Amino acid sequence: MTRTLAPDDAGIAEAAGLLAAGELVAFPTETVYGLGGDARDDRAVAKIYEAKGRPSFNPLIVHLPDLDAVERIAEVGPKARTLAQAFWPGPLTLVLPLRDGAGISPLVTAGLGTVAVRVPAHPLAQQLLRAFGGPLAAPSANPSGRVSPTRAEHVLDGLTGRIAAVLDGGACAVGLESTIVLADPDPVLLRPGGVPVEALAAALGESLATGGDAGKPTSPGQLVSHYAPEAALRLDATEALEGEVLVGFGPVAGVLSLSRSGDLVEAAASLFQTLREADHLAGPKGRIAFAPVPERGLGRAINDRLRRAAAPRGP
Ligand code: TXA
Ligand code: MG
Repeated sequence: MTRTLAPDDAGIAEAAGLLAAGELVAFPTETVYGLGGDARDDRAVAKIYEAKGRPSFNPLIVHLPDLDAVERIAEVGPKARTLAQAFWPGPLTLVLPLRDGAGISPLVTAGLGTVAVRVPAHPLAQQLLRAFGGPLAAPSANPSGRVSPTRAEHVLDGLTGRIAAVLDGGACAVGLESTIVLADPDPVLLRPGGVPVEALAAALGESLATGGDAGKPTSPGQLVSHYAPEAALRLDATEALEGEVLVGFGPVAGVLSLSRSGDLVEAAASLFQTLREADHLAGPKGRIAFAPVPERGLGRAINDRLRRAAAPRGP
């Protein structure tokens, strides 16, 4: 049975105790819910892969409470430091060289010499990290290839019975996963996300190269078909075709809408919940059409997720 823990001191203490015992606990971050396990414990990390049904070549993000804790496991270069100071705590993940003797399970890094680290801003994530007192490996708390969870109920939909507990913190404010960047020596955007690339470029005073785009899964885990609902998806739709559930944005009105006022922050926060609702409305073998979303700010990350959701599926 998977327990639902309340977002109070008792719930956090219980969650930290389960993690210390090598169990898995899903917890809220400002982006999406993470499926947490002790990043130093090979067995706990193996359980994460097993619970998600995730291919093990796909490395995980390590969550820590602050930059000092990050520096104990990874080398923070000059551009990484600039970004950390500007955006942590927050929805930014930095890929950094792993320190010798950092104690991180090689299953977390999939044997790479680098580690992806993030300092989440969500108060419950912060409290849990401090109560646990160690690094937490946490991919999004959904079965591999499915839509990321932005509510505790979504976590239970996909993983009930497969994890010890979920810490219930309600809906996630950002709603899209973190932006992943390799900062030094030359900055590369590996995944668009909750921090717009324009903001990163402004902080660095230079533009970022793009890697691991949807067409070329060069960065591990950037599988083209990801975040998939059951229904087939059509993008850039201005009206519904026969049998389609139209999801609007701004002036394009649909049965559902990412944001009726055309606000990208609201659209990001509601994206995964709306995908789930549209999937439910469309039914088995149904079809969903999405209105165009502008390719700027958070719109880039929204379009990245929609393109993956629309990509042809493997068997
Ligand atoms: O917002 C988020 O980032 C959420 C919350 C829970 O923090 N986590 C999340 O984790 O989205 P996950 O496991 O679903 O995505 C991890 C991504 C993958 O695309 C993986 O390939 C990439 O991070 N990654 C991890 N380690 C890496 C590394 N050393 N080099 C390049 N990419 C890496
Ligand atoms: Mg994920």
